[in-house]
Amino acid sequence: MEKLVVKGPTPLKGEVTISGAKNAAVAILPATLLIDGVCTIENLPNISDIKISCEILRQLGAKITWNNEHSITIDTTNITTTKAPLDLTSKFRASYYIIGAMLGRKGEIEVGMPGGCKLGARPIDQHIKGFEMLGATVNLEKGTIYAKAKKLKAAPIYMDIVSVGATINVMLASVLAKGTTTIDNAAKEPHIVDVANFLNTMGADIRGAGTDVIKINGVEKLHGGCTYSVVPDQIEAGTFMLAAVATRGDLTLKNCITKHLESITAKIFEVGGNVEDNGDSIRVWCNKRPNNANIKTLPYPGFPTDLQPQMGVVLALANGTSVINESIWESRFQYTEELNKMGAKITAQGKTAFFEGVKKLYGAPVYSSDLRAGAALVIAGTAAEGETEIYNLEHIDRGYENIEEKFRKIGAKIERVKE
Ligand code: EPZ
Repeated sequence: MEKLVVKGPTPLKGEVTISGAKNAAVAILPATLLIDGVCTIENLPNISDIKISCEILRQLGAKITWNNEHSITIDTTNITTTKAPLDLTSKFRASYYIIGAMLGRKGEIEVGMPGGCKLGARPIDQHIKGFEMLGATVNLEKGTIYAKAKKLKAAPIYMDIVSVGATINVMLASVLAKGTTTIDNAAKEPHIVDVANFLNTMGADIRGAGTDVIKINGVEKLHGGCTYSVVPDQIEAGTFMLAAVATRGDLTLKNCITKHLESITAKIFEVGGNVEDNGDSIRVWCNKRPNNANIKTLPYPGFPTDLQPQMGVVLALANGTSVINESIWESRFQYTEELNKMGAKITAQGKTAFFEGVKKLYGAPVYSSDLRAGAALVIAGTAAEGETEIYNLEHIDRGYENIEEKFRKIGAKIERVKE
């Protein structure tokens, strides 16, 4: 077992290069199943979710060549089975994209129920509704999903809930379906636009991604022969922005799209931090104790749930009382118990948490309950006085590339230690 040992407090200072977006990459990789050919994907984050995605594709028959640790060439000419490896698909959430992509490619797929961070109930009813409206039958038996369609046919689909996964999955399934599919009440996250851009580069005809109505004009075939670079990770960028504020540091983040960071920038100004938008890089600094603020997480362009725990560290240290209302996931306050072990004063009740700001946090052994909770604990450990030990690193490694190396480069005293 491994743990991270962080000694603080350290104001983080310097430059960080942001990696490609996990949540775009985990959809773009299965999307390659829709192509009968070869393509190259660049700017992939070097994280465990990507390695598992590649292994699932390989077991379905794709040939994958690593060009370097951030780029693969993938040949999906011969997809040899419609049974996805159950042990691997149950390891992470985004394995549900295999369903949309394989319905489009083969009209059939057998896949394990998706796993991923335990954030409360994570139903996939909107995905299934979308597939059924496109003409598929979907059955769930003993933890395995069986989806089948003789021929997918375009349909108007209204999402009852704004869902990132369901929007992308229906987009994947409808790219090769005959006619025009409309997704109403679609999610608008940057990774949705990125997946649509990737598919359009390969010959799809998707319009309106990034708005709440997406139209997909079905095409006969997607072509290979293209190279695509994954969008920079909005959530990794936001994590470092909030790390700069929590540690009263000064960071410049390179390779980011500042437009995607507006809700975070607005909150940083509200708590008294500074943000300078330099086009494809952003500088964030803070030289005083943050002010209190209230947050409600919302689908994009609202404040992202995936930055709520990192913002929680800032508010735990703020001057005054703050309230966070988590409107997406029912169990995303597990990290608050860990911060309380470090001296924070947080009371979480259901989807609301009250933060009575403290002047200092103190190092303690803490456990990461999910990916973003883990990132929040790394920030907290860097801001805290003394030594923090962070356990359950498998969550962090799923979504952050070389987290300790990136933090070390900007001054953190952080080591990965084998127990
Ligand atoms: C994606 O999850 C992200 N994961 C999550 O990031 C992120 O927290 C979430 O979107 C919200 O932004 C990936 O992209 C792989 P949703 P997803 O469908 O697609 C409900 C991280 O830390 N819902 O947008 O699974 C659902 O319960 C991870 O990187 C239904 O009711 O989220 C939730 O309350 C964690 N029925 C809300 O919608 C459905 O069929 C939004 O979920 C689907 C969702």
